[in-house]
Amino acid sequence: MSKPLGKILSEGKTKKVRETENSDVALLEFKDSITVLDGEKMDVLRGKAVINAHISAYFLEILEKKGVPTHYIEFVEPNMMKVKNLEMLPVEIVCRNIAAGHLVKNYPIKEGTLLNPPVVEFYLKDDARHDPMLNEDHFLILGLASRGEVKKIKEITLKTNRILSDALKAKGLTLVDFKIEVGRGTDGKIYVGDEINGDSMRIWEVGTDKILDKDVYRKGGTMEQVLNTYIQLYQKLLGKMPPIRGTKNE
Ligand code: TMP
Repeated sequence: MSKPLGKILSEGKTKKVRETENSDVALLEFKDSITVLDGEKMDVLRGKAVINAHISAYFLEILEKKGVPTHYIEFVEPNMMKVKNLEMLPVEIVCRNIAAGHLVKNYPIKEGTLLNPPVVEFYLKDDARHDPMLNEDHFLILGLASRGEVKKIKEITLKTNRILSDALKAKGLTLVDFKIEVGRGTDGKIYVGDEINGDSMRIWEVGTDKILDKDVYRKGGTMEQVLNTYIQLYQKLLGKMPPIRGTKNE
């Protein structure tokens, strides 16, 4: 019989953080829920947890290999990642290569416009305030990070962008934009934490601009269309069907 999982330390909209025997290590357990609008719209998408856990591990392993410090330690079947415990910053960092989403909604720029250099944005994670945008001075007055740390976070974000863009290009995919979260390790250094998958990225198929991410859900797609999109992204990245019920690898 498998060992019972550790105590839940915290639970978010799409993940649970569980305790392990080692206080420096946590278990991130992905959930099947999918949400938008700060959780105002939520559904259950069976299979998503397994798909997103695998895709996150896939991207975090690539980043680690290319020298970006991340919290990733190892994949734990079927839908978990063992990670270093970080002191997470309550911040979302968005990096954009092509104009889409909120950039197009909030600024006079057309969807699809190439952004060179890429645009990096910071947002405070605060659902009640609808995640206000932060600049470098806000980090200081809110006591979130030093100027040196903000510089490091931007460096890590741009390096992550180059690595993920190249990895996706090799699979016939374009990285339109993505979001990461970072935290401090016990050594005081900044690490990429959280997850990186179709929930936190915009990915378009080269040539067709077919959407292969959560935008299918944001734009009101059916749950079948949304699940198919996540399955397709998994297939394109990992070259096989995801190990979820209802697919060939059941
Ligand atoms: P946006 O255009 O809606 O600001 O999104 C930019 C990128 O960040 C997109 O790939 C989706 C991702 N993102 C999240 O992962 N979580 C969020 O809460 C938001 C607003 C965006």
